[in-house]
Amino acid sequence: MDQEKIFHALVLDHVGSNACVKNMKISDLPEGDVLIKVSYSSLNYKDGLAVTGRGKIVRSYPMVPGIDLTGVVEYSNSPKFSTGDAVILTGWEIGEKYWGGYSQYARVKAEWLVPLPASMKPKHAMSIGTAGLTAMLSVMALEENGLQSDYEVVVTGAAGGVGSIAIALLSKLGYKVVASSGREEAHDYLRELGAYRIIDRQVLSREGKPLETQQWGGAIDTVGGKTLTGILRSLSHGGAVAACGLAGGSDFCTTVFPFILRGAKLIGIESVLCPSETRRKAWERLSQLLTSDLLERITQVYPLSEIPRLSEEILDGRVRGRIVIDVNALAASSK
Ligand SMILES: NC(=O)c1ccc[n+]([C@@H]2O[C@H](COP(=O)([O-])OP(=O)(O)OC[C@H]3O[C@@H](n4cnc5c(N)ncnc54)[C@H](OP(=O)(O)O)[C@@H]3O)[C@@H](O)[C@H]2O)c1
Repeated sequence: MDQEKIFHALVLDHVGSNACVKNMKISDLPEGDVLIKVSYSSLNYKDGLAVTGRGKIVRSYPMVPGIDLTGVVEYSNSPKFSTGDAVILTGWEIGEKYWGGYSQYARVKAEWLVPLPASMKPKHAMSIGTAGLTAMLSVMALEENGLQSDYEVVVTGAAGGVGSIAIALLSKLGYKVVASSGREEAHDYLRELGAYRIIDRQVLSREGKPLETQQWGGAIDTVGGKTLTGILRSLSHGGAVAACGLAGGSDFCTTVFPFILRGAKLIGIESVLCPSETRRKAWERLSQLLTSDLLERITQVYPLSEIPRLSEEILDGRVRGRIVIDVNALAASSK
């Protein structure tokens, strides 16, 4: 591989700097045993925090943000992967501590990689990305707890990335999914994903008694704060909440009653350092449960240059579904 080969990457030079697309050389990439020619990345809530500097996500500079990538192995020093293998990388602190996916090339550790499932297109792997992996891990956690189909399952932050994919997965699995959303204009979209019923996000975040009518057989909560408090008080006996996000707040107050009187379970979902074997299982299930048509419907594709603008939008709750980044396109047009 020509170490002087020039490519494009989005770079944050220092704390508070604006993210800019820059020319880099292969020799500029950090150490790693696999060189990947990246095709697509994606935009997650955490990327928005990193790129805008509105959250303390980036831990060393200069940094190439982007917590997800997919591409083809160009060179491998590891027996686990060979030149030409199609791979996915999400999490493992790329885009935070290690250089990430907003780049035409990435050099990474082989142990971070998962093979692209045979039936999945690279673009669709990034329609899923960290958001979709988190949704799948949340569904798997609820299943392990014994998800009850005689009650509805609620998904909060429904029109966002994790929420959209969680609704699609749960509905495909046959559950009655209730979408909690603050966006009236997203109702048709949520029904298309498989939502059985839609509630305004304020229904769950209002004040209430410590325990209320049992309503939810399970929940996937991307919002946190008062919303999580609201879910817990209406969780059915033995039900569980997969808590994976904080789009509405990081603190929450509750009483012990849902836990000691109804056996409620609060399950934390963590996708960044999730073990490789669990990831592989999750990606296989994602490839079985999500169709190309559905992934096309939830996805918009943008070039690297649009990431700073889109980062503000995702933090303001204005992105619907998933944003895929075509790292090899520089023109500012949505496809
Ligand atoms: N634990 C993990 O490993 C992990 C992995 C991925 C993501 N996450 C977290 O999960 C959350 C969602 O991520 P995402 O990528 O899906 O983000 P996203 O696409 O921006 O979706 C978040 C959704 O939350 C709702 N929302 C936004 N602001 C809100 C507010 N102030 N109050 C109530 N609801 C609000 C909106 O949905 P509506 O418009 O439909 O109401 C929004 O679309 C984030 O907090 C992210 O950090 C965690």
